[in-house]
Amino acid sequence: MVTSAGTLPSLLLGTLLTFTFGALGANPGLVVRITDRGLEYVAQEELLALQSKLHKVTLPNFDGDVRIKHFGRVDYEFHSLNIQSCKLLGSALKLLPNQGLHFSISDSFIQVTGDWKVRKRILRLKGSFDVKVKGITISVNLLLDSEPSGRPKIAVSSCSSHIHDVEVHMSGDLGWLLNLFHNQIESKFRRVLESKICEIIQDSVTSELQPYLQTLPVTTKIDHLAGLDYSLMGAPQATAQMLDVMFKGEIFSLEDRFPVAFLAPVMNLPEEHSRMVYFAISDYAFNTASLVYHKAGFLNFTITDDMVPPDSTIRLNTKSFRAFVPRIARLYPNTNLELQGAVISAPCLNFSPGNLSTAAQMEIEAFVLLPNSVKEPVFRLGVATNVSAMLTFNTSKITGFLEPGKIQVELKESKVGLFSAELLEALLNYYLRNNFYPKVNDKLAEGFPLPLLKRIQLYDPILQIHKDFLFLGTNVRYLRV
Ligand SMILES: *[C@@H]1O[C@H](CO)[C@@H](O)[C@H](O)[C@H]1NC(C)=O
Ligand SMILES: *[C@@H]1O[C@H](CO)[C@@H](O)[C@H](O)[C@H]1NC(C)=O
Ligand SMILES: *[C@@H]1O[C@H](CO)[C@@H](O)[C@H](O)[C@H]1NC(C)=O
Ligand SMILES: *[C@@H]1O[C@H](CO)[C@@H](O)[C@H](O)[C@H]1NC(C)=O
Repeated sequence: MVTSAGTLPSLLLGTLLTFTFGALGANPGLVVRITDRGLEYVAQEELLALQSKLHKVTLPNFDGDVRIKHFGRVDYEFHSLNIQSCKLLGSALKLLPNQGLHFSISDSFIQVTGDWKVRKRILRLKGSFDVKVKGITISVNLLLDSEPSGRPKIAVSSCSSHIHDVEVHMSGDLGWLLNLFHNQIESKFRRVLESKICEIIQDSVTSELQPYLQTLPVTTKIDHLAGLDYSLMGAPQATAQMLDVMFKGEIFSLEDRFPVAFLAPVMNLPEEHSRMVYFAISDYAFNTASLVYHKAGFLNFTITDDMVPPDSTIRLNTKSFRAFVPRIARLYPNTNLELQGAVISAPCLNFSPGNLSTAAQMEIEAFVLLPNSVKEPVFRLGVATNVSAMLTFNTSKITGFLEPGKIQVELKESKVGLFSAELLEALLNYYLRNNFYPKVNDKLAEGFPLPLLKRIQLYDPILQIHKDFLFLGTNVRYLRV
C-alpha cells in the first residue's frame, strides 16, 4: 500500500473530519476554508509521506520471454524487487472547481534493484539488476462529496501515470547478453509500474481512506454539558482559489438535545486567502452554546452573606438593610438574606465589525432565611448590564473572556416597602466581578475546539470580527512524529 488514511489528504482530513447531514439549505455555523496556499502545503506534506511510504512498497515479480538472435527464446524472471531510492520532486494539489481536487506528481525518480533468473532448456543463469525509472508523472482527480449518512465521501474519479524513461542494467553471468535486449525488458517494466501506480492509489482511497471516513465521529464533547456538532452540511465547495467546507457548528445539550429556534445567519466571507486555512465561526455557535448553558442553570447563582467581603458595610442581613428598608428589619429582626439570581434569557453575543458584546438581563430575588430552612421572598430586582467580550485563540482553541460593564439595578417588586435598589449595586457588582464572571470566564477559557487533527500546529494567526461571525486565519504546520 502506498497511501493510507494517514497520508493522502490527511491534513485536509483534519479539517474535513466528522459529519452528519445537516438540514440542506440551512446556513452553516462553521465554515472551514482551505486556500490554494494551504493545498500547496498539503501537497508538499503528502509528497514526503508518499515518498517514505514508497520505500515499503512490495513490487510484484514479473516474468516473460525474449527472442535473442542466434540463440532462440529465453524465459526470464525478475524477483526480490526492492525500491532503493525514491525522489518525488514536483507535486501539486489544485482545486477542481465544482468537483474536488487534482493531485499530481511530476519529475519523479525511483531506483529499483532486484535479482533476475534466465532459463533456456537446461541452462540456468542468474544475477542482479538495477532499474532507474525516470520522469514519473502521476495525475489523480479526487471527487469530494458528502454521503446521505452525513459523512464525507472521497473517490478517485480519474488517475493516470506515465513513465518517461526506464533504464535497466543487469549484472552477473550473461548480464551482457541481457543488456542487449534491454529495450524489451524496459518497456515491460514500464507497463507493470504504470499500471501498478494507479492501482495502489485507487486502492488506498477506496479501501483505506473512504472506510476511515466512515468511522469518523460526527460530534465532539466539549464538557459534561455540551457537545459540538461538526456535521457536514453538503459537499465541500471548490472554486479556483479555495475549498469551503460547511459544518453545522451547533453546540447542543448532551443530556437533552433540543431544536434550536433560530437559524444561523448568512456569512459573507471575505475573499482573503493569504493564510492556509480560515475558520468562519458564526454567532450561531456561540448563541447555541449560550442556550445550552442557560438551560442547564449554569447562569443561575445564589449569593449569601458569607460571600460578602468582610469589610463591606452592607451585609446580607436585615440589620444592615434597616437604614434603607426599615420594614424589613422590623418584620424579620436579625435575619440573614439570600439573593437568588438568574439570567433571564440566554444572552446573545453580538458580533459587529471589530467588536463583540453581549447584554445580560438578570433577575435577582431576595429571600429572608427563616428557621427550618424556610425562605420567604421579600423583594425582586432587575439587573441589566452590557458586557464586552474578548476572544483569542491559542494553538487549538478559541477562548473567550468577558469584561463586565456597569450594572443598572432596578427594584421590580417589594413586600417590604419601596427602597432605592442602587444601594445594592456595590454589593452586586462585587459579587458579579468576583464570582459570577470568573466562573463564566473559566468556562470560556476552556474554549471552542477547532476541527483539527492533534498533530497540527497553528502559526501566524489572525482574528477578525465581522458582522455575525468571527473570521480566523492561520497557517498550519504538521508535526511529524
Ligand atoms: C434558574 O433560575 C430560574 C429563575 O429562578 C429558574 O426558573 C430556573 O428553573 C433555574 N434553572 C435551573 C436549571 O436551576
Ligand atoms: C463596541 O461596542 C460597545 C458596546 O456596544 C461600544 O461602546 C464600543 O464603542 C464599540 N467599539 C467599537 C470599536 O466599535
Ligand atoms: C447597554 O447598551 C444599550 C445600547 O448601547 C443601552 O441602551 C443601555 O442603556 C446599556 N445598558 C447598560 C446597563 O449600560
Ligand atoms: C490553549 O488553551 C487551552 C484552554 O485554555 C489550554 O488547556 C491549553 O493548554 C492552551 N494551549 C496552549 C499551548 O497554551
